[in-house]
Amino acid sequence: MPSGAEHSVAVIGGDGIGPEVTAEALKVVAASGVRLETHAYDLGAQHFATTGEVLADSVLEELRGFEAILLGAVGPPVGDTTIPPGTLERGLLLRLRFELDLYVNLRPFTGVPGAIAEGCHFVVVRENTEGTYAGEGGFLRKGTPQEIATQGSVNTRMGVERCVRFAFGLAEGRDRHRLTLVHKSNVLTFAGDLWQRTLDDVSVDFPGVAIDYNHVDAACIYLVDQPSRYDVIVTDNLFGDILTDLAGAVTGGIGFAASANLNPARTGPSLFEPVHGAAHDIAGTGRANPLAAISSAALMLEHLGETDAADRVSKAVGGYIADHYQSHADDPFPSTAAVGDAIAERL
Ligand code: IPM
Ligand code: MN
Repeated sequence: MPSGAEHSVAVIGGDGIGPEVTAEALKVVAASGVRLETHAYDLGAQHFATTGEVLADSVLEELRGFEAILLGAVGPPVGDTTIPPGTLERGLLLRLRFELDLYVNLRPFTGVPGAIAEGCHFVVVRENTEGTYAGEGGFLRKGTPQEIATQGSVNTRMGVERCVRFAFGLAEGRDRHRLTLVHKSNVLTFAGDLWQRTLDDVSVDFPGVAIDYNHVDAACIYLVDQPSRYDVIVTDNLFGDILTDLAGAVTGGIGFAASANLNPARTGPSLFEPVHGAAHDIAGTGRANPLAAISSAALMLEHLGETDAADRVSKAVGGYIADHYQSHADDPFPSTAAVGDAIAERL
């Protein structure tokens, strides 16, 4: 669709602070001048509690027809035991990632003033459709003393290669041209071997990108004590999940962390969501930071080809952070809506 046209976007506000931060993201997109034709979908823990439905097949089919999906957060309050663990995670979030083939989970980080990784810029490319998340496994003799639970990790050459290729392409277009594979190849010798060989093979097509390897446990130390060493990190689904929470923490908190669940082949919509969850404890208090949702909307604009608007939103977020977060310790947080207004005004 040419720039200036209207884009069709499905909006899933979800639970807790999800709808609040999503509203600010949409406010900012509107202020950027990009016109969206939005369709709101009521999905998440609340929707499940009232209807017993996680994601109807017909809704999934409808979602395939949009150019993008903007999601706030889904999940019940911490300690809620009425919804079995995994119901929404597997039934909604992961189902969307798998069914829509959102094979890259792109998570960019910029250290805010006062953060451990202040001034550092790096991106994590997390494989998003395989690994332990594929759900391979099961129980044998469940509930007996002889019980066995297995949880496999699926790593296909195709799945690893398309993710690694995406990461190389990204690294090639950045200033530092560095790509680090993070895995645990000294213990996960089958999957780690496949990842390393794939990285080496694909590297032939990207001679300008310097490659490196870190074990995941070492990467946890480096993210804390030498975060500037990273440019692009590529890693499997579970390591990427854990590393991006740590990356969020060292760059200022996951209130800033955006993500894009991408289908780079563009056979359907991609999904954009903040890394944080529903945070029911602060829902409705105006204390939720909408910057992660706003930055996720900037990633969406970029994906929709609205690069100018995406740049302006990213710069507005950067400018706001530079002006308001002199020290992470005395964060002068006004309110969710006031932050959205301030970003919108900067456009
Ligand atoms: C994330 C979340 C999800 C994940 C959960 C909610 C299924 O933690 O997006 O990082 O593990 O991928
Ligand atoms: Mn996570």
